[in-house]
Amino acid sequence: MLERIIRTERLVLRPPEPADADAIFRSYAQDPEVSRYLTWRPHRSLAETQKVIRNAMAEWDGGTRFPWVIPWVITRVEDGAVIGMLGARIEGHMAVIGYVLVRSAWGHGYMTEALRAVVEALWMVPAIFRIWAVCDVENVASARVLEKSGMLREGRLARFIVHSNVSAEPRDVYCYAITR
Ligand SMILES: CC(C)(COP(=O)(O)OP(=O)(O)OC[C@H]1O[C@@H](n2cnc3c(N)ncnc32)[C@H](O)[C@@H]1OP(=O)(O)O)[C@@H](O)C(=O)NCCC(=O)NCCS
Repeated sequence: MLERIIRTERLVLRPPEPADADAIFRSYAQDPEVSRYLTWRPHRSLAETQKVIRNAMAEWDGGTRFPWVIPWVITRVEDGAVIGMLGARIEGHMAVIGYVLVRSAWGHGYMTEALRAVVEALWMVPAIFRIWAVCDVENVASARVLEKSGMLREGRLARFIVHSNVSAEPRDVYCYAITR
């Protein structure tokens, strides 16, 4: 099935551990710039992040549920730092991707490196035929990551998702996908 640990040149993606909550809370969970185009609000307490990590850990053991969510913590080989997370939600023959990175690590190609490796790992699962993601039309960096990872922009989905850090109204997203 899916690899628990994915190694790239500069990164190791692995299942979450309890100690990750502290690192994630301190590094990006409270940062409003990071969650701007995400569906969650910046965390205000460590307990909030601990809950997210507990749930993420449970996902790895709950592979019979539907949909199945696989969350990896992204760590940097150079210094061992926890720099983000990447999740894939498997629904039948499709995997939908989401990701987040600490602001100090933006712009170094890390998420592109992580996503390319996850796409490779997902293609090892014969039942998966489509890997896709959506991003806010203003989230230029995320759109680039999806493009650089080999995904095609399939279109614009109007009023698709509420990014409450930007607006209470549903917003348009671009839909990206790679298929085989
Ligand atoms: C989106 C995110 C994961 C990108 O990670 P990253 O490791 O910095 O991405 P990469 O370095 O691989 O690539 C970013 C690309 O976007 C480009 N970019 C970044 N900001 C940009 C901007 N404001 N305008 C134009 N291009 C921009 C970079 O130049 C780079 O493209 P290039 O390699 O062609 O120069 C990171 O910014 C993040 O965590 N954002 C907050 C969470 C989020 O929005 N997640 C996605 C939800 S859909």
